[in-house]
Amino acid sequence: MRVLAVGVATLDIVNNIAAYPQEDDELRALSQRCCRGGNATNTLVVLSQLGHRCSWAGVLGDDPASQQIQLDLKSHQVETQWVSVHPGGITPTSYILSSMATGSRTIVHYRDLPEYQSAAFEKIDLASFDWIHFEGRNVPACEAMLKHARQATQSVTISLEIEKPRENIERLLPYPDVVMISRAYAIGSGYQDAGQLFKGIRPVAESALLYAAWGEAGGWLQTADGMSMHQPAYQPPVVVDTLGAGDVFNAGVIDSLMTGRKPVEALAAAVCLAGKKCARQGLKIA
Ligand code: ADP
Ligand code: FRU
Repeated sequence: MRVLAVGVATLDIVNNIAAYPQEDDELRALSQRCCRGGNATNTLVVLSQLGHRCSWAGVLGDDPASQQIQLDLKSHQVETQWVSVHPGGITPTSYILSSMATGSRTIVHYRDLPEYQSAAFEKIDLASFDWIHFEGRNVPACEAMLKHARQATQSVTISLEIEKPRENIERLLPYPDVVMISRAYAIGSGYQDAGQLFKGIRPVAESALLYAAWGEAGGWLQTADGMSMHQPAYQPPVVVDTLGAGDVFNAGVIDSLMTGRKPVEALAAAVCLAGKKCARQGLKIA
């Protein structure tokens, strides 16, 4: 199937450390890797491994890191035809501490690159895709793109990731068929659990499937008729690296629904795929 994802690519500088430090500590990393990251492109790289034809719409700088990103996407057969290149732009960079003791990842992100614009998005032939996935960011542009996608094609399924509380992000909720919400958004918005989260956002996402990824507690689903289901986390023998687990969860939901599985089966598949990812570094799926 053909998938378009709108969102970011980053340079991730990941330091593997034995345990998370105290403030003002000095410590030596056990190892380091420097790789492409970013939610939308992470999800595409997983979907491509699952056999889908993937395209990315986002912004690249024109520095060496953007070349590294392009090479990585090319090696995963992710098309970049709809990418905007910003002259003089610096690649968004994440400085990441990955703790071997717990598998937690702590991300400090620096960004100074314009966001993807609706004018670029409107040039894409959306009818050539089966699924369009949006990272919920830059609310005004994202809302314009969601509206356009809804009007331009009836046949495509639209999903939206809500990862962090951002000003007016709830304005995006009426448009998608599927919403993937993170625990970080839920907690940051004052919801204590997935039940409260669904109750809070259902009035503005009336007919969408709602998925919530909840770290080591697994994932939740609420269907449009208000039925909620929980899938406990898949427990890998050792949790090595949780960086990108949410992006893998989203890929699992998209892959399953696109290939005709039921919403509850998609929840189970996404939790399993994301849990297995936590046993390994990086996004290679076995
Ligand atoms: P994010 O990467 O956005 O912070 P989460 O931490 O919620 O996302 O992880 C996404 C999914 O990955 C979870 O719903 C869960 O299925 C799986 N997962 C995350 N952390 C663990 C863990 N420690 N053990 C098992 N599965 C996990
Ligand atoms: C993981 C990730 C990283 C990136 C950061 C951006 O979910 O996409 O690869 O640095 O989040 O917020």
